[in-house]
Amino acid sequence: MNDTLKLLESIEKSSGSDLKKVKNLKEFEKLRTQYLGRKSKLTKILRSIQNLPQKDRPSVGKKSNEVRKALEASFLKTQGELEQIQSLNEASDIDVTIPALKKHIGHIHPNTQMIWRIQDIFQLMGFEVFEPYDIDDDYHTFTSLNLPEGHPARDIWDTFWTEEGFIPITHTSSMQNRVMKMRKPPIRAVVIGHTFRNERTDPRHEHTLFQCEGIYVDKGITLSDMIGTLKIFFSKVFEKDVKVKLDPDYFPFVEPGNGMALSCTLCDQKGCRVCKYTGWLEILGCGMIHPFVLREGGIDPDVYSGFAWGFGVDRLVMLREKIEDIRHFHSGDLRFIRQF
Ligand code: DAH
Repeated sequence: MNDTLKLLESIEKSSGSDLKKVKNLKEFEKLRTQYLGRKSKLTKILRSIQNLPQKDRPSVGKKSNEVRKALEASFLKTQGELEQIQSLNEASDIDVTIPALKKHIGHIHPNTQMIWRIQDIFQLMGFEVFEPYDIDDDYHTFTSLNLPEGHPARDIWDTFWTEEGFIPITHTSSMQNRVMKMRKPPIRAVVIGHTFRNERTDPRHEHTLFQCEGIYVDKGITLSDMIGTLKIFFSKVFEKDVKVKLDPDYFPFVEPGNGMALSCTLCDQKGCRVCKYTGWLEILGCGMIHPFVLREGGIDPDVYSGFAWGFGVDRLVMLREKIEDIRHFHSGDLRFIRQF
């Protein structure tokens, strides 16, 4: 009996060292037959148990079952490892030198690129960046901006209204009042976001566009601060020294109100179709913030003054990238987008 037990122990031992030497699944199958097959020593011992003297049966039976279980477990483990190695080897049969399929992985929209550029420039100049609410109320869109209900100047904006009386904002000026209430002077803020107009679209007009609004409120702010700030901004956007010019204009929330024009960035004032041979491009509305608007924002107009402006982001992109039709932006035409 002792011999059988010793044999069982040596089977277990040698199977362990043999398994370590196996290099592939073929060798492994051979070894498995050798140790666990019908003609293996172990199977023979298991079969012979019934012929043993009654007293030896339990110990030999127990030991041989233990060895069988141990062998099955270690063979299973090795099989798993070998299979993994084999599949890795098969994978390395892939020819990695074949050129990859060319896939287009997406693109930052030119409007977004411009928004980032605008934010960077104004942040460097000490302005804080805000986002507007896409849908806002009458007070913030109009009334707080010196445009009470029934004011004829409301006609300047072709406004959408929801049935509940809210407005998909016509301009990012809608944030002026909130920013003034949230901050104390000096206030330097820009608001960039989507605006919506009830427009009949054409190459220069879209129903959905981006706007950048800005305000600067402090003691002793004058129009020359505004001119300087915007001139520096536009020179940075177009990466060249641009000239700016003020014309009188009317917006209820500024007094005086102005239109600002830039020296034509396309022809450098030699005269072209885009500037209609005037050398100037109308680019934004601006002016000194109306005392009513400051007061509504909780700021004393006898102590503080400020300037404000608003321009279309899409228009800047069109000028910078020489795009002739604003409707391309929302056309979803990838041939257009991929150029930028
Ligand atoms: N909100 C105006 C618009 O949508 C643009 C504008 C003009 C903004 C003059 C201003 C401003 O802040 O002072 O047409």
